[in-house]
Amino acid sequence: MADRVYIFDTTLRDGEQSPGCSMTVAEKLRMAAKLVELGVDILEAGFPIASQGDSEAVDAVAREFPWVSVAALARSNRGDILAAATSLKNAKRPRIHTFIATSDIHLKHKLKKSRQQVLDEAVAAVRLAREYCDDVEFSAEDATRTDPDYLEQVARAVVAAGARTVNLPDTVGFSIPEEYRDLIARIVKALGDSAVVSVHCHDDLGLAVANSLAAIQGGARQIECTINGIGERAGNAALEEVVMALNTRRDRLPFETRIVTEHLFPCSQLLTSIITFGPQPNKAIVGENAFAHEAGIHQDGFLKERTTYEIMDPKSVGVPESKLVLGKHSGRHALAKRCQDLGISLTKEQLDTVYHRFTELADRKKGLRNEEILGLAREVVEETKQAGVSAS
Ligand code: KIV
Ligand code: ZN
Repeated sequence: MADRVYIFDTTLRDGEQSPGCSMTVAEKLRMAAKLVELGVDILEAGFPIASQGDSEAVDAVAREFPWVSVAALARSNRGDILAAATSLKNAKRPRIHTFIATSDIHLKHKLKKSRQQVLDEAVAAVRLAREYCDDVEFSAEDATRTDPDYLEQVARAVVAAGARTVNLPDTVGFSIPEEYRDLIARIVKALGDSAVVSVHCHDDLGLAVANSLAAIQGGARQIECTINGIGERAGNAALEEVVMALNTRRDRLPFETRIVTEHLFPCSQLLTSIITFGPQPNKAIVGENAFAHEAGIHQDGFLKERTTYEIMDPKSVGVPESKLVLGKHSGRHALAKRCQDLGISLTKEQLDTVYHRFTELADRKKGLRNEEILGLAREVVEETKQAGVSAS
């Protein structure tokens, strides 16, 4: 049996915290419905102390999806925790997610507190949160730049105070996979079965997904991530990438999630329609070009056998089909197939002529449209007919 990894979605909280991504309560509800359909285990719906809207969103999501674990974020202080508890009062499966920074750099410049003060506040926050719900998660913000001995001390203390999940965020995307795996392994060993160790990676160095995967190899069993990888600055680990890496490389990553992967692309599309931007075209799994082939050699291989150039079936992530893009690098094989799909069968000689004209055009122009290809093919067919008439 593969080990179960819990997917904690924070699209509606960390994701929403990035420029251009704020969502109304109604939009959060629409997105939450899709995330529930996708099969996320925990849905972080907002940071209630931050705004009335966030507080309402947490309440609305918790009421609408009572069977899902809904989390609300709170700093490690009384006001935040009471706001989170209030917004979760109707939730059937509430989780209070409380956090405080533990790195010296944050303690010195941001919090202006000693390590002992932070430790005491973390413990007090968890105890207070436990008065309102059993499921309490504690995050040691900037864990990856925290002295590991102190981090372990905090982790042990918050678990003793009642936290069931201990999250060790790479808040500034500073860690590298091997280092992160080792840090996680140390805390997993220290906590044993007393809590789930969770990871939350930012993508400042483009390593958020790699770090998340390394972390589960180190023993973490919850991954915090977002659709399309949205989130503070360079974003969070992209949910779709984490899940498909697990699904595609089960040989090396024997872990199970509950995600229904066919909903990944529709979920990404819905998010794009709600916020102000979509993923870049070459974004893994959900980008416009994720299953598009332009080079002739690739198209030829793909047409002979899909798996030569595709490690995932597009349908498995909800993308209707792969695309053969016709451009200056494309080959005769793909051009013939496109003409066929457009209803024109070409002889070998006709195809040679169409291909010649097509490469000339593609050299000057990006992204040829079907009408242009159809135009070239019809022109050549017509010329052949005329040549036949005048020869007879
Ligand atoms: O990046 C971070 O450290 C966070 C915490 C609040 C979990 O978002
Ligand atoms: Zn974050």
